[in-house]
Amino acid sequence: MNYNIPGPMSKAVLSKGQRLTRGGNSYIAEVKAAEKAGYTEKPPQFINGKAEGSWIIDLDGNRFVDFHAGWASNPFGNANPEIIEAVTGALKRWGFSYEHPLQYDLAERLSDISPGKALTRVNFEISGTEAAEAAVSTALVYKERPLIIAFEDSFHGDSIGARSLSALTSERSKYFESWRGGVIHVPYPHTFDIPAGMNAEQYADYVIWYIEEFICKKVVSPDMIAGILLEPCMAEGGNWIPTDNFIAGIQRVAKKNDWVIIADEVLVGLGRTGTMWAVEHWNFVPDILVIGKNLSGGIEPIAAIAGKEEIMRDNEVHSGSTYAGSPAGCAAAIKTLEMYERDGIVERTAVLGRKVMDRLDKWPGEFSIVGEVRGLGLLLGASIIDSGTGKPDKELSMAVYHEALKRGAWIINDDEANIRLYPALNIDEDVLDKGLTAVEEALRVVEKDYRVNKHPEYPNFD
Ligand SMILES: Cc1ncc(COP(=O)(O)O)c(C=O)c1O
Repeated sequence: MNYNIPGPMSKAVLSKGQRLTRGGNSYIAEVKAAEKAGYTEKPPQFINGKAEGSWIIDLDGNRFVDFHAGWASNPFGNANPEIIEAVTGALKRWGFSYEHPLQYDLAERLSDISPGKALTRVNFEISGTEAAEAAVSTALVYKERPLIIAFEDSFHGDSIGARSLSALTSERSKYFESWRGGVIHVPYPHTFDIPAGMNAEQYADYVIWYIEEFICKKVVSPDMIAGILLEPCMAEGGNWIPTDNFIAGIQRVAKKNDWVIIADEVLVGLGRTGTMWAVEHWNFVPDILVIGKNLSGGIEPIAAIAGKEEIMRDNEVHSGSTYAGSPAGCAAAIKTLEMYERDGIVERTAVLGRKVMDRLDKWPGEFSIVGEVRGLGLLLGASIIDSGTGKPDKELSMAVYHEALKRGAWIINDDEANIRLYPALNIDEDVLDKGLTAVEEALRVVEKDYRVNKHPEYPNFD
C-alpha cells in the first residue's frame, strides 16, 4: 500500500482551507516544515471523511489505522455509539442548562476512582488547558504563594497561561516569553540524549539537586513557591517515562518545602498507561489531579480537576467557564467511566501494552534510526535519530510520520524528534498489528531512502 495523498477530494478541501484559515491551515505548516527539512516530495495529507472505531477513512476512501485517537482522547475509538447515545439523551433532556444532577454524579465517580480515593473535591472545566490553569490557580490561592515549578518539554495547553506553564519549544513560546513571570522552569530528566556521562537515574538526581540547591538556595525562597506542576509521564514532549528516583525525589522535595504536587494527567490519565492514573505506577497520590481528554470518551468536551479536601473545600479561586460541566459533557464522562469498568479497559491496556512493547523493543536493533523506544500501557513512543551522529533528528521523525501515513497508519509527530502512537484503548489486535506493520515499513523506507537537504516541490492546489 502506498497512498498518493492528498487525493482529489481531500485536495479540494485543503485548497479551500488555504484561503480561509489562519496561516492557511495545517497543510501549509506541514509544507513549510517539510521545505525547511529538505523534503524531496510533497508531504502527504488527507481530509477525514469518516472516523469509525480505530479507523479513519479519508474523503477519497483511503483507510488509515488511527494512532491519533483524537490526540489520545478516544479510549473506545472514534464515534463510540454508546457514548453518543448517552450524550444525545442528556441533550434532549437538559440541552445546555445549569443545576443538572449529572455533575454531582460525575464528581462522585471521579472522587471514587481518584488515586487512593484521596481527591475528594472536583471542579469541572472544558478543556485540559483550562483544567491545568485551574489546578495552578487553586494551588497558588491555597498556599498563598505566587510561584510554581514546571518542567522543560512539558505541555499544558496553548492559552497564554498554559503556554507560560509549558516549555515545549522556544519557538512555540516566541513573543510570549514575558508572560511567564510566575513560572520557574527546570530541566526534565529525559531517558535519552541526556548530558554526557550521566545515566537516566543520575540525570534525575541532578534535576532534584538543581531544584533544591540552585532554585531554592540561589533563585527564590522556597516559601514563595506554591507547588510543582508535573506530567507524571510526559506526553507531548515525546512520551517520556520517568525513572523511579525522579518521582521519589519530587515527592521528597515537595514534602520538605510544603509544596503542592499537581499531576497533569490530561493525556496519560484514565488508563492510557495501563493503570487508571499514571501516578499509580509509583503509588503516589498527588494533591491535585488534572483530568481531560479520555474523560469524554472523545465525544463531548469536558475536563476537571480533583483535589484533596483541605485544598479544595474552602478555596475561593475562580476557574471554569460557561460550558464547563455541561449535561452533555457529564453524560459522556459518566458513560465512559461505566464502560471502563464494564470492559476492564485499564487492565486490557496494561496487557496489550506489554505485548506491543515486546515488538517495539526490537526496533532499536532493527532500525538504525530508532534511538530508544518507550512504552507504558498504550503510551508508545520512539526517539528517531540520525544513525550517523546518534542524535535526535526532527526531520527524520517527520519523514517517518509521512511515510507511515502513506502506508495507512496515522501516527503523531509534533515539535519533537519522536514518533508517538496513541491507539484507542479498545483497539482490535489485528488493526493494531496492521498499523504497526505500516510504521515499521515507514521506518525501513526512511532509514534506507531518505536524503535530507534536497528541496521539495511546493504544493499548489490551484
Ligand atoms: C498534559 C497535557 N495537559 C494539558 C493539555 C491541554 O489539553 P487540551 O488540548 O484539552 O486543552 C494537553 C494536551 O495535549 C496535555 O497533553
